[in-house]
Amino acid sequence: MKTSGSVSIAPLLRVLAGESVWPPPVWLMRQAGRYLPEYREVRATAGDFVSLCLAPTLAAEVTLQPIRRFGMDAAILFSDILMLPYGLGWGLRFAEGEGPVLPRLTSRAEVDRLDLAGLAERTAPIMQTVRLVRAGLPDSVPLIGFAGSPFTVACYMVEGGGSKDFARVRTMAWTDPALFAALIDRLTDATIAYLDAQARAGAQVLMLFDSWAGVLPPSLFGRHVVEPTRRIVATLRASWPGLPIIGFPRLAGTMLGAYVATGVNAIGIDTATDPAVAASLVPQTVALQGNLDPLALLGGGDALAGEARAVLGALRGRPHIFNLGHGIVPQTPIEHVTRLIDIIRHG
Ligand code: CP3
Repeated sequence: MKTSGSVSIAPLLRVLAGESVWPPPVWLMRQAGRYLPEYREVRATAGDFVSLCLAPTLAAEVTLQPIRRFGMDAAILFSDILMLPYGLGWGLRFAEGEGPVLPRLTSRAEVDRLDLAGLAERTAPIMQTVRLVRAGLPDSVPLIGFAGSPFTVACYMVEGGGSKDFARVRTMAWTDPALFAALIDRLTDATIAYLDAQARAGAQVLMLFDSWAGVLPPSLFGRHVVEPTRRIVATLRASWPGLPIIGFPRLAGTMLGAYVATGVNAIGIDTATDPAVAASLVPQTVALQGNLDPLALLGGGDALAGEARAVLGALRGRPHIFNLGHGIVPQTPIEHVTRLIDIIRHG
């Protein structure tokens, strides 16, 4: 690691400060999860997924597992973007095999009832996880805290869970713009408070997951993705000037250019984005993170090696954090992850 005086600066933090580092630092979205037998073991003792997110010792343990096994360049807090609605007193459960289930939000009264005052108390166990992880990590490995972006969290609240096309939320944005804006603005306030608490507990980088940003047309993308994200970044930066923020506007396509106005330090790019095109839309001062196809990682072999080298080559010379274009899938063989890290670090 490079040192500055007597202080070492982790490769991930150097890239987030705008430096191009070779080989690039690497971590993988969903790096803690069901493809790891040691995760499945802890998960079985915790019971359901929400209980695991609220059990600091267990959540800290699963956060550290991929660091121990693979030596990733960053840890990401083990939690979920839907723990924010949970923290606001909104119902949340994960039905086995079905994904998240939440009450469906339909009215202004429900927006007004979102309990910001109770957020700190309900999410206190998550902040305890952050402290435990920080204490268990070497200084060379930064901890990434995270939240969903207001738009993506709103998607799950309005749909009552996942959806094929998010028709309900897209319809609400057009037919009841005042209600939808009120929801986005309230979630923006909550996200600021939630990420600020993570920074206070010891998170050194923050990431905003906007998995469904790309279902909006450019006009609504500005109001419901760019503007709230810009406010989150500006507010957090005022309190935490040195704290880098990564945004991941999945499926944004050509709207990546507009997303730069959020002020994030790095932008995550999804599997469908040509890294060279992303590089042309995003200035050199903003790092890019991504974007190997998680199914190439699942498949392994020469195709994995070729694809990983293509991503490395396309972003060489720019600040780049190697990652997947979306989360690792549960069937991924562990040896493929080991191989990928080896290709990135040793060619
Ligand atoms: O990346 C990490 O390792 C950190 C932890 C993390 C999880 N979810 C754990 C998780 C993070 C950063 C997330 C983000 C998240 N959660 C997103 C944004 C990224 C993306 O995938 O688009 C979204 C949309 C969610 C919501 C969510 N959580 C869904 C739709 C599901 C069900 C689908 C699935 O993959 O099971 C989850 C569950 C979830 N979140 C699991 C994990 C490890 C699986 C739970 C289990 O163990 O059964």
